[in-house]
Order: sequence, then structure tokens, then C-alpha cells
Amino acid sequence: MSQKNILNELNLNGIISYRENDDIANKLFYDFGVHCLKLLKDNKLNDLGDCEIRAGADEGMVEIRINENNIPLFFQDIYFNTKNKFESICNSYLGSNREIIGKIYINHGVIKTRGAHSDGTVLQLKKFVYCTDVSIEDGPYSYQVQSHNISIKKIISFLIYKLFTKTDPNTYLFRDKCTPFIGDAGTTLISDQRGLHKGIPQTDSKRFRVVLVFDSGH
Ligand SMILES: [Fe+2]
Repeated sequence: MSQKNILNELNLNGIISYRENDDIANKLFYDFGVHCLKLLKDNKLNDLGDCEIRAGADEGMVEIRINENNIPLFFQDIYFNTKNKFESICNSYLGSNREIIGKIYINHGVIKTRGAHSDGTVLQLKKFVYCTDVSIEDGPYSYQVQSHNISIKKIISFLIYKLFTKTDPNTYLFRDKCTPFIGDAGTTLISDQRGLHKGIPQTDSKRFRVVLVFDSGH
């Protein structure tokens, strides 16, 4: 898909889901997912970067901030290629250069996910590439299409939280209409984080979900 089409869809919907690469490249994402799970099993995830286990919302989710010097050889070309394509989208969509941070999320039996929320009003993009096949049971990323624009409901929701609870003003009070984005390994999503999104709780505790994430920051 051309950069122009990606930007058009992002502007229109706040999210785009597509297959960015051919089958051979998509297999590399799958192989990388397998590689991460092997490191997890061997207690060696720190080989990839700084590792943190989430508490609270998304309790149990493993988040690794990738050390780009430690990317396995077979994955280096596809990693930097994917990051560079995202950087180019960010520069056009956000109108500024950002330092793109690479992360890995590993979910296994994560059942306490945060409800629909926006990450705030500041422009920020995230790119997700599934490194395992993600069905509804595996906790797909979920997004309310076209919610990246300011709406009356978002403003009311923000004000109620700000005035009465003083916590988490970006949590959405109304019934959300988030769509889960499922797909095979290699499926790519780019998401405008101002829109409403949430993680779906995992229901099949036997499966692991590995996602490569690029974050533009604020
Ligand atoms: Fe979020």
C-alpha cells in the first residue's frame, strides 16, 4: 500500500490495518515471535532490552524496550525497514520528527485490561505488528474508528472525570464501539492514539500474543 493511501486512511479513520509485507517477510515476524517466546521460557528476555511486567491495568503483560544493538541477526533488516517506513509516516502525519521507540508486548493470560480510553489530545502514533496469529481469544487491539477527532461526548466524558473523580480523565464514560483488529502474524496496524482504544481480555490462557510496537511518543 502506498504512503499516500496509508495517510489518507489514517486521516479519515484514525487507524489502518493492512498487510505491509509479502509472505516471506511476514514469516520473519512469526519467527521473531517464536524467538521471543523461547527467550521468555529460558528467562532471557533481558537479552532483547529492558523488561518490565505491568501491574494494574494489563496486569501480567510483559513490555520490553528494545535495545537495537541486540536484535537477532535474522530480524535486523526487517526491523529497521519496518521502523523506517513508520518514521516516514510519522513525519508526514505528525508534521514533526520524533524519536521512534521500539518495544515488544507479550501477553499471556492477561484478563485485566483497561477500558476504552484515549491517550490524550497530543498527536501520537503507534505501529503494531502482530508476531503471532491474533484471534479474538488472544486479546486483539481494539479501536473505535473515526474517534481520533474531538467530539462532544469526549469533552463531556473528560469534564465529568476532571470535576468528580480527578483520575484518568481520558477514560471514556459512554458505551464504546471499539472494533477488534484480528489477523495473522505480520498484520500491521497504525493507530492515532487520540482515538478511543482498549485491549480485549484474553480468554484462551494457553496462547501467547507477541506484538512488535513502534511508538512515536508525544
Ligand atoms: Fe492507551
